[in-house]
Parts: sequence; structure tokens; C-alpha cells
Amino acid sequence: MRVPSKKGFIWLLIYSLIGLVVVMLVASLLHLKAVKDEPDFLIGISQPNLNEPRQLLMNNEIRKEAEKHKNVKLIFTDAAENSEKQVHDVQKLMKYGIDLLIISLNDSEKLTPIVTEVYKEIPVIVLGRGVTGYDYSLFIGSDNLSIGKKSGKLAADLLGGAPADIVEIKGAVSSRSVEETSRGFRDYLSNSPSIKADKVIVGDWQRDRAEDELSRILPSSPGVKLVFAHSDAMALGAYRAIDALGLHDVQIIGIDGLDTLNGGFDLVKQGVLSGTVTSPTGGRESIQYALDILNREKVIPKKIILGSHLITQKNAREVEAASDPGQMTSRMDVNTRKTKLGVAVVGSESSWRAANTESIKNAAGQDLNIDLIMQNAEGSQDKQIEIIRNFIKQKVDVIAFTPIVETGWDNVLAEAKAAGIPVILTDRKVKVEDDSLWTTFIGSDFVEEGRRAARWVVEHKPVAGETKIVELQGTAGSAPAIERRQGFDEVLSQNAGFRVIASEIGDFTTESGQQLMSKVLQQGTVPQVVFAHNDDMALGAIKAIEQAGLKPGKDVVVISVDATKLAFQAMLAGKLNMSVECNPLLGPQIIKAAKELATGKEIPVNIITAESIFSQETAKRDVSTRKY
Ligand code: AHR
Repeated sequence: MRVPSKKGFIWLLIYSLIGLVVVMLVASLLHLKAVKDEPDFLIGISQPNLNEPRQLLMNNEIRKEAEKHKNVKLIFTDAAENSEKQVHDVQKLMKYGIDLLIISLNDSEKLTPIVTEVYKEIPVIVLGRGVTGYDYSLFIGSDNLSIGKKSGKLAADLLGGAPADIVEIKGAVSSRSVEETSRGFRDYLSNSPSIKADKVIVGDWQRDRAEDELSRILPSSPGVKLVFAHSDAMALGAYRAIDALGLHDVQIIGIDGLDTLNGGFDLVKQGVLSGTVTSPTGGRESIQYALDILNREKVIPKKIILGSHLITQKNAREVEAASDPGQMTSRMDVNTRKTKLGVAVVGSESSWRAANTESIKNAAGQDLNIDLIMQNAEGSQDKQIEIIRNFIKQKVDVIAFTPIVETGWDNVLAEAKAAGIPVILTDRKVKVEDDSLWTTFIGSDFVEEGRRAARWVVEHKPVAGETKIVELQGTAGSAPAIERRQGFDEVLSQNAGFRVIASEIGDFTTESGQQLMSKVLQQGTVPQVVFAHNDDMALGAIKAIEQAGLKPGKDVVVISVDATKLAFQAMLAGKLNMSVECNPLLGPQIIKAAKELATGKEIPVNIITAESIFSQETAKRDVSTRKY
């Protein structure tokens, strides 16, 4: 071996040093990139109190989910049931520089303004008890109306038709969730004339307050045979009051069904409660969506409504066994093969529908684990039922369909349920006796779309006197036609000076929009505003207005729903004044839901799309961002 000369040795040293510097540079660049790829997120969690077991569990779920991500840091605050303190907590979290706020409200009304303020700067996820309005990134909550109904049914079943008084223990009175739960409960009981539910007390979600209030009224109320508390914690308070008074014939129902020591699930198993209805906290989901929002990765829905189940002393053990992962094996084999998804499209009535159908095809096409069978019902309910029956025969794993109208689905959905095939409702809802016949709804809030259209009309009132409006409805009996009309009427009825002079029924096609509008104009009526239930009908109405020698967008204000590219062209031409967004790009969410259902996973009952409104003033700016 040759020994290097002194000069050679110096060069070797220089080369080695350069090499070392290069390696260190590359390493630090890679490190920098890794840090850049995984930014640290600081998430603030504002809780209304930590006395309630539910809020504690929510925090635990949040913590557990966040632990899976090294780049997530959390700061928790506890408002100790004081709304002013919660406002202050949120301001403090903002000063710490949080990237996203997760908040569960102490009082919807008092906290809405601060949530609106924060939402102007960072994303906000509202958990559980909602705010008024839409100034937040995402709401995750429960279907309170359905929880109330399930509780009402259980109460009626437990009392078995015997005359009885019920005491209802509400949470905080100002909360919308309390109002909805109570409404659902009372709606159900209105069919049971022997039950009187006029005794109401407020427990503010607190066990001890519920106990004190109930202890005060029970001695003078011998007819009380059942107590319905809006939380299991308050139900436990009720039990303590009943037990102390030595009453043995009063049954108790709670809400929450937490699977913790002394949680509702446990209390039912112990025989303390006769039943409870589960209401998931949403803690885990809030972190999952927070990361989606912060990473700007996916389309984020506006509302996620989690499902609920009835737990009684009869089914508690069964429910426990079913939530054991070992019980899911029957559907687990789907993991190892493609998920066969049958989609029954409603028809080809509009450009919205074309975009919706394309979105499902594209999302399925990009997923190697999906085997899509798509069929078009061409606007016929009978045909759609036949398609679904064929899917059942073919033993698909999941069925997804857009019901052309709301009613008439009970039988075919019962057949799908009996065959063990989960059903996804996409875009439109159904009205069936038994809501367990479908698993999830993915689509828009049509009532809110109608409200948004009406709010725009109110804000842009075209004439000083009475504003005459013509409404062009979509397909009779379809969810978008029923609900857009409902939302539109709701807002107009709160404002003087507006009158719907004609409300014509169409079918979401351009042709029907044109025919209906021509008919109205031929009758000699010229309204100031036309509200069409979709863009295609509005485009038809625009043609009819032009044929009558009038200027759409000027002589007659035209507004609609969907916000398709065609609507943008009409806005840019000054013929359409405004369109409320209804997002058809549901494909990715449908595919995700189908795959989760196929493996037996429980998914939210409602996934509501985020939407806004577009008008002539901003159309030029917004058109480049439109995807359909
Ligand atoms: O169900 C959604 C509605 O159906 C869309 O607004 C309309 O264009 C359609 O065809």
C-alpha cells in the first residue's frame, strides 16, 4: 500500500472536510424539509366546564387522537360554567397563537359573537352545542331531534300505556340542542294521550342541581312514574333523589351512553337507569377534521352529525358485544377484496346532475378498491326501486342512491336492510318510518339554501313597495323542492313587503323553467323577482323573459340555486343576479363512506357540504375557481 505524501495527505484532509460539510448541509436541508412538511399545529380547546363527565371524555378523546400526531400540540381551557369566562378563555387562546380553535359552548347565544370573531382569523370547529348562524369551519354534533324521539319511544314503551306523569330535566335552557331534544321527545309522546309530560325542571347539565330540583318537586307529585334527563349525569342525580325518597316505581332515562365508570352505559347495566340514548362527543373526529383543515388536504364538510343508539337493560350486553372488534369479522373480509358499490343515479335532468354523476365515477375510478356499478333511473321512482332490487340480488356490499322523491322507499330499503346491505343517501333525503333503514346522508342543507336565496332578496329589495316573486319549483315531492321552498318561505315570512304571487311546479330542467315562466308572463303577470330552484330552470326562465321582450337581470331579477359554470356565464352576461351554491362534487365522500361501511365501521348519520353564495358583483373574480 502506498503511503500518501505530506501534500497528498493535506489534499485528502481538505476533500474529507468538504465531503463532511456537504453531508452536513444535505442533512440539515433534509431536516428543514421534514420540518416544513410537518409543521407544528397548536390547537386550542375551550370547554364550558369540566364537571360534566361528557366534557371530560371529550377532552380525553381529543388528547388520545392528537397523541397519534407528533406535530400537534394542545392547550385546554375550562370556563367553569361561566360564559364570560369562556369568552375570556378564547381571547387568551388567541393570544397564545393557536392555529385552530375547538370549542364546546356554555351558552350558544352568548358565545356566538366571539366564535364569529375568531372565525375571521383562524378555523373554528364547534363541538356539540351549536352556535347560531354559519360562522364556523365545521360543526360536529348529534341528531338531537332523533335522540329526543328515541327517548320518547322508550318512555312510551316503558310506561306501556298506563296513565303517568313524566318529569323532563333539561340541560341549559338557552341551548338549541335542548330545544331540539325536547321537541323530538314531545313529538313522539303526542301519540300517547295517557302520558302527561308537563313537569319540566332545569338541571344545567349538573348532577347535583338535577338531584336538588327533583327532590323539591317529587314529594308533591305522586303521579310521576318516569324521569327523562337530557344527560346521564343528570339522570344519576335523579336516581339519587328518587332513591333518597324511597320511591321504587319511578323509571329513569338519560342521554349520552358513555362507556365509562358510572357513565350511562354502566348505569344501565347496573339497573340504575332503564335506558339511555348514545350521543357521541365528537372529540376524536374533531382532531381528525382539524388536521384535514390545517393541512388543507380535503373537501371539508360544514356539518357532521354523529349517529345515536338506544341502550336498554335488554340490549346492553348485546350492544357491548357488537362493539367488540371481534364481532365484526363477518364484514371484515371486504378488506381483502374490492368493495362492490351499487349507485342508482336519479336521472340526467340538469348540469348539476351531470357534474354529480361524473364526480362519483371519477372518485371510484381513482380507487382501486372500488368496484362501481352505476345505473340511471331516468327520473322514474319505479325504475330506481327496480335498480336497487337488482343491486340486492347481485349482493353488492353497499348501495348509494339519490331518491328522486322523499317518500315511497320503506319496502325496498327494508329489503336492503334484511339483506345486510348498508344504504347511503346521496344528495337527497327520504322520509321513512324507520330511520335505521339508511346509514348516512351525504349532501347539502337545502333549507339553508332556500333561506340564503330569500335573505339575498330581502337585502337587495328591488322596489320600494311590495316585491312580487315568482317561484319555479323543482320536481314535486323531491327533498330539494320541498326544503328550498320551506327555507325561502321561512325568511320571507319574517320580512314585510314580499309576496310570492305564483309558485309553479317544474322538474329541474331548462325546458320546464322556460315553459313555466312563459305561462306566467302570458297571464300578464310580471314579477320583480324570479326564484328558480336550480340554475337550469333559471336559464329556461331567462329565455322566456327575453322572448317576452324584457331584460332578465334588470327588468326581472333572477336568482337560483347550484352555482354551475352555466350560471356564472349568465351572471357575467348580467342576466342572472345570484346563485346559491349547491355542491355536486360528492364523489370522494361517497366512496370513503362506502369503504368504511363495507368494513362495518360506524360513520356519521349526516355529512353536510360547505356552501356559499355567488352574485354578479363577484362572478368575474370567482368564475376561475369553479369546478363544475
Ligand atoms: O338534488 C339536487 C338538485 O337536483 C340540484 O339542485 C338540481 O340541479 C338537481 O338536478
